[in-house]
Amino acid sequence: MTSYTIHENVHEALHNYEMPEKLGFGLSPGPVMYSVSYMDGMWGEGVLEANRPIQIQPSAKVLHYGQEIFEGMKAYRVDQARANLFRPERNWQRFNRSAKRMAMPEIPQQLFMEGVYLVTAYSEAIIPAASGQSLYLRPFMFATEPSLEVTGANQFVYMVIASPSESIHAGTMKVLIERNDTRAAIGGTGAAKTGGNYAASFASRQRAMALGYHQSLWLDPVNKKNIEELSVMNFFAVIKGELYTPALTGSLLEGVTRDSIIHLAQSMGVRVHQQPLNIDELIRQIQSSDCSELFCCGTGAILAPISALGEYDGTEYQVKYPDGKLSLVIRERMLGIQECRLEDPDHWVEWIPEEYYPTA
Ligand SMILES: Cc1ncc(COP(=O)(O)O)c(C=O)c1O
Repeated sequence: MTSYTIHENVHEALHNYEMPEKLGFGLSPGPVMYSVSYMDGMWGEGVLEANRPIQIQPSAKVLHYGQEIFEGMKAYRVDQARANLFRPERNWQRFNRSAKRMAMPEIPQQLFMEGVYLVTAYSEAIIPAASGQSLYLRPFMFATEPSLEVTGANQFVYMVIASPSESIHAGTMKVLIERNDTRAAIGGTGAAKTGGNYAASFASRQRAMALGYHQSLWLDPVNKKNIEELSVMNFFAVIKGELYTPALTGSLLEGVTRDSIIHLAQSMGVRVHQQPLNIDELIRQIQSSDCSELFCCGTGAILAPISALGEYDGTEYQVKYPDGKLSLVIRERMLGIQECRLEDPDHWVEWIPEEYYPTA
């Protein structure tokens, strides 16, 4: 039996909400937020309320020890009245894998989804409806226990916020090979979606941007030879007409988009290899045109072709099809399913159950 509270300020927040002039990606908060607390080994009752600043103690463990995890997912409403989600149970499963790694409580699927459903259902009218646009949903959990003791917390809050958004990156990307820093360690937290991984990537991203690149390409933490992923996306190469993507090593994130692309490509008759991808070998294959395309993928961008890889010394390797070719066919299939424009043979699209909608 589900039980949650809809705060009386929700309707006013929805009524007063003004769509931002410039959408961007995750730039402007939506009108409502969901939260539920965890204490003494038990989850409490969820609340949907107007988006507002939250209060935590200065000694809350998240602020000192980074005990925090999050997810990123989208609700689409392209040319349709009702909003739909894409493989949301995958995000819930990954959230709980992240929770386990970070010594945080796992959350029941019903409670994880309650937050996602309520925020989406109540925000439905403000979901932008052009292709590529969506409501970006951010479920997250953090340690609220007020104590500086260096141990895992026993008080947490799970929240869902959202933002009407455009795709994170439309168009092609240029990526800088990061040969110095590494993103994650063997046995570390690379496969968990936790804030520290992202904070640790920002310095490299700043260097990449200063050199005219969009993101960094991370290599394996031991030999700095095998490609792992980008800071917020997984990586693919098209080599002699077949798809190659780094195998899941435990230090990179298992993307929902990555998994979906592998599945879609296979269903289109394209062979897909999940294996170590040596960076120097790949560069030779780019130079000989055996590797004709590169692309990256994630919930935010869906799929973006990579036109070139670059080195810190200014050397750049241009791919044969900088704007993508096979990748664009896959992108259209993915987005078409997500936006309910194409058949969904694997039943990836999910609808918000009626009971979560506001009563008239
Ligand atoms: C480090 C990292 N890798 C890959 C991805 C792609 O994952 P997904 O396709 O589930 O969005 C993301 C985005 O969430 C990410 O942050």
